Amino acid sequence: MDRTTARSGVLWSLMLLLLPLSPLLTAVAAQATMVGNAGGPWRPQRFSASDAVVDPDDRSLDNEIIEDYAKLPRPPTPGVEQFYDYTASLYMEKMVRRWAPLIWLAPDEQFLPGSVSDFLNHVTPRPPRTSQDPQQLLLQSKVPMGPESQTWFLVTKSEIGQLLENSTSVLYGQNPNATQVPVYAYVTECGRKKFHVSYWLFFPFSQGKPICTLDMGVLGPLPLPVINNRCFGTLKEFGSHVGDWEHMSLMFNGHDEPDEMYVSVHDAGAFYRFDGNRRKFVFDRQEVRKGFLQKPKFPEVVHLTNEGNHPVLFAAKGSHGLWTAPGKHKYVRIPRLYDDSGYGMPWKTWTWVEVLKSSKKLPGWMQYYGKWGNPHSKCHPLSKVGLQICQFTDGPTGIPMKPHDFQCQNATD
Ligand SMILES: *[C@@H]1O[C@H](CO)[C@@H](O)[C@H](O)[C@H]1NC(C)=O
Ligand SMILES: *[C@@H]1O[C@H](CO)[C@@H](O)[C@H](O)[C@H]1NC(C)=O
Repeated sequence: MDRTTARSGVLWSLMLLLLPLSPLLTAVAAQATMVGNAGGPWRPQRFSASDAVVDPDDRSLDNEIIEDYAKLPRPPTPGVEQFYDYTASLYMEKMVRRWAPLIWLAPDEQFLPGSVSDFLNHVTPRPPRTSQDPQQLLLQSKVPMGPESQTWFLVTKSEIGQLLENSTSVLYGQNPNATQVPVYAYVTECGRKKFHVSYWLFFPFSQGKPICTLDMGVLGPLPLPVINNRCFGTLKEFGSHVGDWEHMSLMFNGHDEPDEMYVSVHDAGAFYRFDGNRRKFVFDRQEVRKGFLQKPKFPEVVHLTNEGNHPVLFAAKGSHGLWTAPGKHKYVRIPRLYDDSGYGMPWKTWTWVEVLKSSKKLPGWMQYYGKWGNPHSKCHPLSKVGLQICQFTDGPTGIPMKPHDFQCQNATD
């Protein structure tokens, strides 16, 4: 055997060793959003022509048009129902605030939520590798917009490692129990008093899962099985990323309470129906968007806060996946990947809701289709032969690139 064959022999035996662990790697990669081009990005949905308001009646939902509308000669109709017609937009915003969730961050959570504007001050938009001079591209457009921005990244101005060493850096976010942190409520209007809303929570950093590894020098860390809860190698975190968008959605169907709720955790999610008599959300069905190994268990009911009408949810420690109950949640069976959640810090999201509606002027960053974080780095040397496992994975895409949980057709007339 010459040296090259010997080396590729070692490589192959390593690959064989890794084979039984490949579900773990896939799971970690899937959990930590897309690596490379696998799967392809979601097509933007929010700005398609079908979303445009065509019903002339719906124009009245827009705050900015209310005045024009009022100028039209109309018989005096002082009824309350009529009043709602004019203020449908305000009504929706009121409902959106009234039903905004209470999010319990996990005990000892290090990576707290943050505001988008604060985050944007600490990152630079960067194009993918291109023949054009990046400096030149940056001069041309401060923040790229629309489909052209799809391949861009928002890269931290300082090295990730350096930011992680500084506990007051942008990556650690803000304590929502001490300072107000915004939640971004994206509203889709379906008709009079009918709409669905996604509450988007932004965290500047998502922590990956620790994996027991054996350092193989130039061959990189080799994942080791954990024996009797003990790791005989070193624990390394894989799948962390800058930027983290989490969400839950509500569907309002013409009543002062929602009909349904969607809660999303990793690549799975659950639909709950609202039971007005019991003042609870009751589990209806679940779906898995990708990753056949993901089979989280969802609790039967979701409670509302004692005061007000706020669904109570729990953000998992580090990853911030939203669970409907505190505790330890297994979301991947083989190997076992767990999320921990519990009563750490409360985040009353209704104290600062930024309502985003396509009938209103949207902030510029809602036109950014690229990734909200740095490109992947510190990848396993074997990633060159197809093993995609990185300590830091790509940042996630933002709100305009995510699919809706509800469709307006769900609204029954
Ligand atoms: C830590 O981060 C804060 C906030 O960005 C910054 O003001 C401070 O200078 C940083 N400290 C160090 C030692 O880098
Ligand atoms: C949240 O803030 C309130 C009011 O300042 C305080 O009483 C409470 O102890 C805080 N909760 C936690 C978990 O820090």
